[in-house]
Amino acid sequence: RTAPVPVLTIDGPSGSGKGTISRRVAEHLGWRLLDSGALYRAVGYAAGAAGLDLSDAEAVTRCAQATRIRFQANADGSDTRILVNGHDATDELRTETAGAAASAIASIAPVRQALVELQLGFRKAPGLVADGRDMGTVIFPDAPFKVFLTASAAERARRRYKQLKEKGLNVTLASLQREIEARDHRDASRTVAPLKPAPEAVLVDTTGMDINQVVAKVLAVVQP
Ligand code: DC
Repeated sequence: RTAPVPVLTIDGPSGSGKGTISRRVAEHLGWRLLDSGALYRAVGYAAGAAGLDLSDAEAVTRCAQATRIRFQANADGSDTRILVNGHDATDELRTETAGAAASAIASIAPVRQALVELQLGFRKAPGLVADGRDMGTVIFPDAPFKVFLTASAAERARRRYKQLKEKGLNVTLASLQREIEARDHRDASRTVAPLKPAPEAVLVDTTGMDINQVVAKVLAVVQP
């Protein structure tokens, strides 16, 4: 028997820096990257584009089953584009609207079920960094390495504000913090796969830390 492919799960709330940290850690290790949030965003986006009512569990589930999602990386791994039913939806998927739609459809159990196989398929040698909410608890419970990233809601709102401003989007800090708190609450209080740390996950509070410090802390979990 060959040893199972190692997985590092990085779970946490939106704005905890998971996306950036996961990408940097995956690059450093030379492992593949699964951005599971992008899958939920893609389904929310496809459902919206089809004019579905996001609370119609059956219609959204059929949509999740039918949606074709592809990650297209550049040769150097940078600037991955996300194709939803053949359409490059990368920019649309980054918006707060897409995040809110993702959070809404993510509470539908059969929608989550429809995305399981796709996620498991990312586990390929030499290893996988899996970024999400339930990577360590539901999708890869046997992962040998698990991290849970947190940061205060105020800090996460500030980071998000900076990102969106750089993209020229018009938002206010106060409204962002309200949206982040509402999304946290919905993600943590849903009955299926709620956002919570796996019991064995290493908790890393990134409030006041810079990216390099967090990357070093996370890498130390894999390479002590
Ligand atoms: O990480 P993100 O902001 O791209 O995720 C968007 C939404 O998708 C998030 O609010 C909840 C949902 N999600 C989920 O339920 N499970 C995951 N593994 C990843 C994301």
